[in-house]
Amino acid sequence: METDAVHPRVLGYLGRALSLELSAVQQYMTQASLVGLWGDEAAADRFRQETVEEMQHAERIVQQMLSLGVAPAASQLHPVTHAADLVGLLEHNAVLEQQLIDHYDEASRFCQLVGDQANGEFFAALLEDEQHHGRDLEAWLQELGGRRRRGYARYGAMAPANNGPRGTSQRNPSQRDLSRRASF
Ligand SMILES: [Fe+2]
Ligand SMILES: [Fe+2]
Repeated sequence: METDAVHPRVLGYLGRALSLELSAVQQYMTQASLVGLWGDEAAADRFRQETVEEMQHAERIVQQMLSLGVAPAASQLHPVTHAADLVGLLEHNAVLEQQLIDHYDEASRFCQLVGDQANGEFFAALLEDEQHHGRDLEAWLQELGGRRRRGYARYGAMAPANNGPRGTSQRNPSQRDLSRRASF
């Protein structure tokens, strides 16, 4: 398809998709290192695997943009959301995955609306992958006892790390303990 045949909004969806996928790469890469510092190598491996999957999504988007004759230009990465324990990290990840799901859902429906079958199928395939990520994430959260945060805190990048009702020692690491319970 020639560039001039692509609806400008489709290019916009691709650009935002790249920003979201690279944000996911940054988030999962950071979390792999963080939980590694906490000594949880099994979780670190899972986050590393997710980093690779999101990077592959970013690569597919770059390839799609190049095939349409446009230069990939992710505009802004979302800041990595922080939490003081694994469940908190996964809750943030559920928000990010839902953003990806919503984005690909909207993008694929828009392509359908304007009769752009090729890009519609491209977004639908990514939607399926992200829905799969979302289900895996929910299962992981359930294994750990389910969601604990309530209210705005679970949505906010700026929520304090020790916010919420838990108040356990895990959520208030001492300075001396930071090598094991590193947070940011
Ligand atoms: Fe992705
Ligand atoms: Fe994902």
